[in-house]
Amino acid sequence: MSCTLIEEIWVEKYRPQTFNEIVSQNIAINNLKDFVKSGNMPHMIFTGPAGTGKTSTALIIAKNVIKKQNYFANVLELNASDTVRMDYVRNAIKGFVNQNLVVGDDALKVVILDEADNIPKQVQQALRRIIEKTSSNVKFILICNYINRIIDPIISRCAVFRFAKLPEEKIIERLKFISKQEKLQIPQIQANEFYEALFFVSGGDLRKAINTLQMSVALELLDNLDLNEVLKISGFLDGSTLEKLIKTLQSKNFEGARKIFITIENLDSRNFLRQIMERLGNLNIESSNYNKIISFIGEIDYRISQGADAKIQILALIGELIRNIKIDT
Ligand SMILES: Nc1ncnc2c1ncn2[C@@H]1O[C@H](COP(=O)(O)OP(=O)(O)O)[C@@H](O)[C@H]1O
Ligand SMILES: [Mg+2]
Repeated sequence: MSCTLIEEIWVEKYRPQTFNEIVSQNIAINNLKDFVKSGNMPHMIFTGPAGTGKTSTALIIAKNVIKKQNYFANVLELNASDTVRMDYVRNAIKGFVNQNLVVGDDALKVVILDEADNIPKQVQQALRRIIEKTSSNVKFILICNYINRIIDPIISRCAVFRFAKLPEEKIIERLKFISKQEKLQIPQIQANEFYEALFFVSGGDLRKAINTLQMSVALELLDNLDLNEVLKISGFLDGSTLEKLIKTLQSKNFEGARKIFITIENLDSRNFLRQIMERLGNLNIESSNYNKIISFIGEIDYRISQGADAKIQILALIGELIRNIKIDT
């Protein structure tokens, strides 16, 4: 058995180091390049889904505008995901910004605040005052998934850059590049399917795509490539279980569907909803109820995101699907 030693996490090893290595996001990147070149940079917000290059881009900017020997003194990187340490976040920013006033130092400084949408509104108000008061040589880059969680007075002080999910061809291109660098042996006849499966599980999140590639290698899935295994390690239903489930749904067999569903191991409910969404067309749903079902799936997704029991919610969905399926006669 070949033993694959994972020395390094590939998402870090292949983190882009220059603007040109950032895949897609052309509009944002071109504008950012101009700002960096002009030396006149506004405060900024990078917003968009996970794994699209926001943090990487912020780090590239910092590297471009701050001299190497001053990097640690003049760049502050904070992650606001840990709300317990919110006071720490606030104090660190204050300290960093004020250090300026004391020393009378007017060198450019950058504050990168990752996951800024986790900051409670009240603390955002404090942050807003810090941004307002701080001198013009300190630039903030706030990073978030959901810009609607950032208060308006902060948004209005920043240039907003939107990062989009990466399209299939870009994800696959990057995965192929990494595979080549790592000299992976992917069975030729399955290579395309493999990359497509990685794209499918990634949902446009390049971090997830790269992690799944590395996990496939670590678990030695490449030697005897079975795409169902790739789906399973990513928390998706394997092909045959999905087919079985679809069949029981089509025959309006609630008990059968429930049995299949409760035996699924390590189910990721959002992935499950995605797979159901993709197969909705095969389910023979009354066309007049199609839209209703889609909005019901959205509702279930929301409830789960708010902490409702995933199993109960999905069983409710199965019931609703079955109620709306036509049986061909
Ligand atoms: N647009 C991109 N171009 C190149 N690599 C990317 C891109 N987006 C994500 N990645 C890969 O995914 C990893 C995580 O990216 P990151 O910039 O942290 O994403 P985000 O902050 O948007 O969640 C990076 O290290 C890199 O390997
Ligand atoms: Mg990030």
